Amino acid sequence: MDFMAIFSVFIDDGCIVCDACEEAAPDIFEVTEDTCFIKPDARLDGGYDRNIGKSGLKPDVVSSLSDDIFDAADACPVDVIIVVEGTGEEVPEAAEEAAPEPEVEIVPEESVEITGDDLESLLTAGDRTMSILFGSQSGNSEELAAKFAKQATDYGLDAAVHDMDGFDLSALPGMKRVLIICSTWGEGEMPDNAEELWLQASSDSAPNLSGVNFSILALGDTSYEFYCQSGKDWDDRLQHLGATRLLDRVDCDVDYDSSAAAWAIDALAVMAAVDGSGQFHENQVEAIKDRVSGAAAAGAAGEDGFTVPETAAEVIQAEISIFRYDPVSATTGKDTWVCALPGHMSVLESLRALKETHDGTLTFRDGPSDDPATAISVNGRLILPGSVRLDSVAPIRDGGLRLRIEPLPSFDVVRDLVVDHWPLERGRESSKPWMVAATREGADTAQGVVGTMDPSTADILHSITDFCSAPLLHSCSDATPHSEAYLGPAVLARTWARINDPRSSESSIVGMQDVMDSKEGIKAETDLASIRRQNGSARIIADALLDARTSTLSRGGFNGRHGKHVWWYSWSVKSSGRVNDTVIYRQVLGPMGLLGNLFSGVTARMVFGFTRTGGNVFNGMLGMLAPPAGIGKMPKQFNSSVDHHHEVVAIFNEVDGRF
Ligand SMILES: Cc1cc2nc3c(=O)[nH]c(=O)nc-3n(C[C@H](O)[C@H](O)[C@H](O)COP(=O)(O)O)c2cc1C
Ligand code: SF4
Repeated sequence: MDFMAIFSVFIDDGCIVCDACEEAAPDIFEVTEDTCFIKPDARLDGGYDRNIGKSGLKPDVVSSLSDDIFDAADACPVDVIIVVEGTGEEVPEAAEEAAPEPEVEIVPEESVEITGDDLESLLTAGDRTMSILFGSQSGNSEELAAKFAKQATDYGLDAAVHDMDGFDLSALPGMKRVLIICSTWGEGEMPDNAEELWLQASSDSAPNLSGVNFSILALGDTSYEFYCQSGKDWDDRLQHLGATRLLDRVDCDVDYDSSAAAWAIDALAVMAAVDGSGQFHENQVEAIKDRVSGAAAAGAAGEDGFTVPETAAEVIQAEISIFRYDPVSATTGKDTWVCALPGHMSVLESLRALKETHDGTLTFRDGPSDDPATAISVNGRLILPGSVRLDSVAPIRDGGLRLRIEPLPSFDVVRDLVVDHWPLERGRESSKPWMVAATREGADTAQGVVGTMDPSTADILHSITDFCSAPLLHSCSDATPHSEAYLGPAVLARTWARINDPRSSESSIVGMQDVMDSKEGIKAETDLASIRRQNGSARIIADALLDARTSTLSRGGFNGRHGKHVWWYSWSVKSSGRVNDTVIYRQVLGPMGLLGNLFSGVTARMVFGFTRTGGNVFNGMLGMLAPPAGIGKMPKQFNSSVDHHHEVVAIFNEVDGRF
């Protein structure tokens, strides 16, 4: 037979889950949460995935559904349905049986003998592909994968980023260079998007990976017992399956930026030193690093060493959706534009460009790049748009960028992206932000008598108030959208700095403490984590606000609703010598609250909602007593003894005069 018929069909990277294929050929395609699968009944291998391995289709499927398959391929808006045609001979007659292994003669690429002179050919010749797989729950690993893939071009590598979710494990043995960036969740568990791949990779049927060169970057948090466990698991497993570790795994704590960047420099260099045949040229690694850093330095200085060269960034296809509000007609909505913009353009410049070329009515606060009033939300991230480039504001997928631009939360919208900052200003005013100085000693200098300050105190005070934008910090708080009276983190951080400022007078400190202790003060803040998550000095500010809260609670003798919980918790530690996390739930809920949980369905939701991923329903018998702490896929309870109990007692006695 020599007719051309469909032999196979598979889904390439980039499916946008639009359902068009499933509508055209429901017997062949099934659209999942984030890609599209070829159904098992249609395939010779009975597999259920994107069919990257190009398993043939069953003959009856080919004869009856070819037109539908072509219709689906035509309907796919991003052309990721790839139809493989053949002469028909590829389709075995005994179709229902397992497909015979195709006889493929693998012609290994010649390994190159590298000398210093032909480093160039190592970095350019043959197969230069590299795969970066990410396992990520909240996006950190995913962002790093995208960033390092871009960086890989400097090393002569052609990098592709793969979400572990939906990744076809059978494709891994064919990859010569593999980087894995994976975080750890739960109690030493894989992030959700990595669970399925991990199950396959850790099973007995996992493929041999002897041709794979790899390195692992593990993201985690040292405060967890199973620090970076997922990264460790991948590291051990890949080695067990025969892959070659070219660079030791790096484990990163929550401040992962610098260690991840250092790992990338080494990891990309070793991957670049793998030639087209898969052979690693260790003696070239340093030369590659020198070459890349030299090129960067030359690029920065320009060819003559003095002039700064023009930097041309790649053009990015951007789909920008912007929140719109018209106060005259009181209508809200969203406008979306698709445009090609240079990656180095700032978000603010892109807004200006849209206003100039597409819609003159688009309204946003304009100003210099560091103008605090320009702050907006992009894909949920709060930024100063003039200081963030398009190519760094969100991960770029398939050369494209999707931005959702909204006004800052916590403020009323005036028009489009412009919000009303007055509530923040009123809060600032009510906090009496002026300095009432104490009378103190000064130093006699040529310029007259000046007040002095210890440099470390000055540094601390500066860092507490060193935020780029008060409206942005105000919006970070989870509490500000729900409480108009709450002064917010920006006002309170400044108040706390002045309370600790040695120049403040005693009486003004008392006044500021009253502000801090009031119900509009720090007790109204629900959770400092939302502040801590922001970039820059957010962590220092969150720590300062925590100190402010502790100080407020201790001044109140740990009375009131907030203080009581802390007091009871510390009391249980003091008297039992053990830290037990169910105590806090019981203190918060009380016996009636626990019963209420049962009847209101909270317990049921915990059982059914949190165990969808297969975790145990109960973490132990304690779960019976204190839901939700012990139920579902929540971290296990702890009940461990306190090492330095006498110190806890001393601290407790210090904060609570009544004991
Ligand atoms: C609920 C929760 C559980 C976590 N469990 C662990 C853990 O067991 N071990 C660890 O090292 N890190 C743990 N982490 C920290 C994350 O791995 C870390 O924040 C990482 O940067 C997240 O990266 P991702 O955004 O790519 O998922 C946990 C974080 C959260 C919020
Ligand atoms: S038509 Fe294309 S993009 Fe849409 S779901 Fe199918 S494969 Fe994905």
